[in-house]
Amino acid sequence: MSELRRIAVLGGGLMGSGIVHVSIVGGYSTVCREVGNAQCERAHTAVKRSLSKAMEKGELTAEARDAALNRVSFVTDLGSAASADLIVEAIVEDLAEKKALWSAVDMLAPPATVFASNTSSLSIAAQAAATRRGDRFIGLHFFSPVPVMQLVEIVRTVTTSDSTHALAHEFVRRIGKIAIDTRDSSGFVVNRLLVPYLLDAIRAFEQGVGSVRDIDLGMTLGAGVPMGPLALCDFVGLDTLHRVAESMYSEYRDSRFAPPPLLRRMIVSGYLGRKSGNGFYRYGGNEPEPNALMG
Ligand code: 3HC
Repeated sequence: MSELRRIAVLGGGLMGSGIVHVSIVGGYSTVCREVGNAQCERAHTAVKRSLSKAMEKGELTAEARDAALNRVSFVTDLGSAASADLIVEAIVEDLAEKKALWSAVDMLAPPATVFASNTSSLSIAAQAAATRRGDRFIGLHFFSPVPVMQLVEIVRTVTTSDSTHALAHEFVRRIGKIAIDTRDSSGFVVNRLLVPYLLDAIRAFEQGVGSVRDIDLGMTLGAGVPMGPLALCDFVGLDTLHRVAESMYSEYRDSRFAPPPLLRRMIVSGYLGRKSGNGFYRYGGNEPEPNALMG
């Protein structure tokens, strides 16, 4: 098994910046590739903010934060990211976009480089097929917020070699996460169970079973979850949830995975959850408030 020294993260959004955080705190020299300078700046700010949050919570010293920040660079050039030992993709949840990116990176990366997708629901096999390295292709599915959630799903597809699988386990162990192995089946373990629950919460609201506040309070106090399902929809991002649900629905053709009409209406109206300041809740004040516009 080749030794991992340099990691590249493609995409510096919510998941990508979290993966950069855990990679640099885990001691890896890491390059984050974004499509433009403004996006690089945003990713850099997100990583600094998240490291500061970890410091406030007593998980990092100021020295460890500074050392971690010295291990990361933000680039727009794909070629300089492609020379890493492990490349983790965390771009938009769209198979055509992921395949186009992988096929470009495949032309630039050395033969030994391992590719990993952070997809939540798209086929690992279909992405691997866009490259000439099916044996060095695997899924590494992180959870949001990445610095906090302990789990990583390691998704082995039919072409993945034993050494790639072992290398993925080694990476996850070194960044202090706990791995579970899953088959290359849309949604893997966690989203297969979580997504129907989140969609059901939206359907319950749509059907007038309870208000946003009461559905969320019901589940936090009655089922002991850390965050109500509608708050979690906002946290994940309503557009992301919609893409994940669509791709699971297209794989299984099971109505449990079908996005409810309300979710589509919210997205076309620009309600994307926390990141847009508006979703089932409104963000911006001290505490999120149930969105009065949702009735
Ligand atoms: N390091 C870095 N960032 C941290 C952090 C840490 N140690 N602790 C919290 N954060 C971040 C959070 O992302 C959030 O960001 P914000 O600054 O933009 O608001 C903020 O800090 C919230 O911090 P708080 O201190 O207010 O929050 P808590 O410490 O009370 O916990 C929580 C927040 C960890 C999110 C908790 O409510 C929780 O566990 N919720 C459930 C999360 C969950 O289920 N995640 C899985 C989502 S599904 C998924 O990711 C799969 C995908 O494929 C759809």
